[in-house]
Amino acid sequence: MSAPSSLSLRLRIWRQRQDEPGGRFLSYPLTDLSPDLSLLEALDRLNQQLLLAGERPVSFDHDCREGICGSCGFLINGQAHGPRSGTALCQLYLREFSDGQSLTLEPWRARAFPLIQDLVVDRSALDRLLMAGGYVSINIGSAPEANALSVAREQAAQAFDAASCIGCGACVAACPNASASLFVAAKLAHLELLPQGQPEAQQRSLRMREQMAAEGFGACGNQLECSAVCPKEIPSSLISRMNHLARG
Ligand code: FES
Repeated sequence: MSAPSSLSLRLRIWRQRQDEPGGRFLSYPLTDLSPDLSLLEALDRLNQQLLLAGERPVSFDHDCREGICGSCGFLINGQAHGPRSGTALCQLYLREFSDGQSLTLEPWRARAFPLIQDLVVDRSALDRLLMAGGYVSINIGSAPEANALSVAREQAAQAFDAASCIGCGACVAACPNASASLFVAAKLAHLELLPQGQPEAQQRSLRMREQMAAEGFGACGNQLECSAVCPKEIPSSLISRMNHLARG
């Protein structure tokens, strides 16, 4: 059976102004959509219609639309970034959905991510976690000769994979405890796996974990929902690595 050349969707979207104490879902039918449109492009289309009708457009975060920056993200039918695994929301196309389907779009729900408006939440708590320790502060002088510091290939590959975290916050949104453990574990691993990051590994781990608690993120309950929704497929084994580092 060939794929439909156009489809209709009903978007149920959480609407809440910044100054409103509560919100509600409003439904918007969209018709004649190309399956090759991204979901964010469908929202662009909806916003054009709302503006033409004199209504407030839907607020949602986005920037690169290439799965790189981590700006996009909300729940689609309860799933962070939607139904396609290993895919950031901005890379999700309407061909993933069926004609006539109803999609419920709502913002990340986590105490550490206060709502700004509609589908946009304040994720600056993740920035503060990085400010608490997600860096190397030792003085290493000028840039060394590239071959002077050898790093095993496997180790370099693991560090690179951990560094692919884009900080979208999906791991927090998917976790029943709203824990940022996968985010912190990825940042710790990508630094600690490389020689320059090793001298400060213990203090960095302590400071970031203390900040995680101060921001209101919960503890890891080993549900591993975080890894399942991560658009960069950061493995949950990094959380074990973080806990191992914490025990010294
Ligand atoms: S908009 Fe940059 S990752 Fe989605």
